[in-house]
Amino acid sequence: MSKLLTKKLIRQEIASLRKNESREIIENKSIEITKKVIDLEPFINGRAIMCYMDFKNEVMTKYIISHCFEEGKKVILPLVDTIDGVKRIVPYEVKDLERDLSAGTFGILEPKKDRAEIFNPEEIDLVIVPGVAFDTHRNRVGYGAGLYDRFLKSVRNDCPKAGIAFEFQIYDFIPVEEHDIPLDFVITEKRII
Ligand SMILES: Nc1ncnc2c1ncn2[C@@H]1O[C@H](COP(=O)(O)OP(=O)(O)O)[C@@H](O)[C@H]1O
Ligand SMILES: [Mg+2]
Repeated sequence: MSKLLTKKLIRQEIASLRKNESREIIENKSIEITKKVIDLEPFINGRAIMCYMDFKNEVMTKYIISHCFEEGKKVILPLVDTIDGVKRIVPYEVKDLERDLSAGTFGILEPKKDRAEIFNPEEIDLVIVPGVAFDTHRNRVGYGAGLYDRFLKSVRNDCPKAGIAFEFQIYDFIPVEEHDIPLDFVITEKRII
């Protein structure tokens, strides 16, 4: 119970910190984070990169995605779908950000089922993971639905997972539960953890 409460407090704390950031600062920090992501070995050598579409004040992914297209990499984006009564991330290959996406839950852009194709998670070479908070041990707190914990079990064991976040989202320790999947990298505008 205390662990749940702590995750909840972290989510509340970050939600209020996020409101303080201007769009300009978010954009500049996102560019710094992009530079570090595109320099990662698994990004350089990866052919299929799973990304996410940012909303509110999350790290912007548009520069990472456009870099993927320029380099001829496949761009995979999540669609949250209810399967057997459970909300799950389903990965889709997206070829055109303008035409293949529409606003889904909470207004987040998601792949259109009739335009994008489901992508085999075993063929993903790098997953860029969003999050509310991360720690210096590469643990992650999300929005509380466990969506990425479930999804990350379906990628290859050797598929690297990189969380991206602003420095204010990094804690020394965040509570970890059995089902939480740790990451291989956490990248901020200042450092790679
Ligand atoms: N692999 C999984 N299988 C079944 N339930 C899971 C799995 N991963 C997470 N959950 C459930 O999702 C809920 C939210 O998980 P939590 O880790 O707190 O969320 P988040 O990762 O979004 O911060 C928990 O109640 C947990 O039991
Ligand atoms: Mg979790």
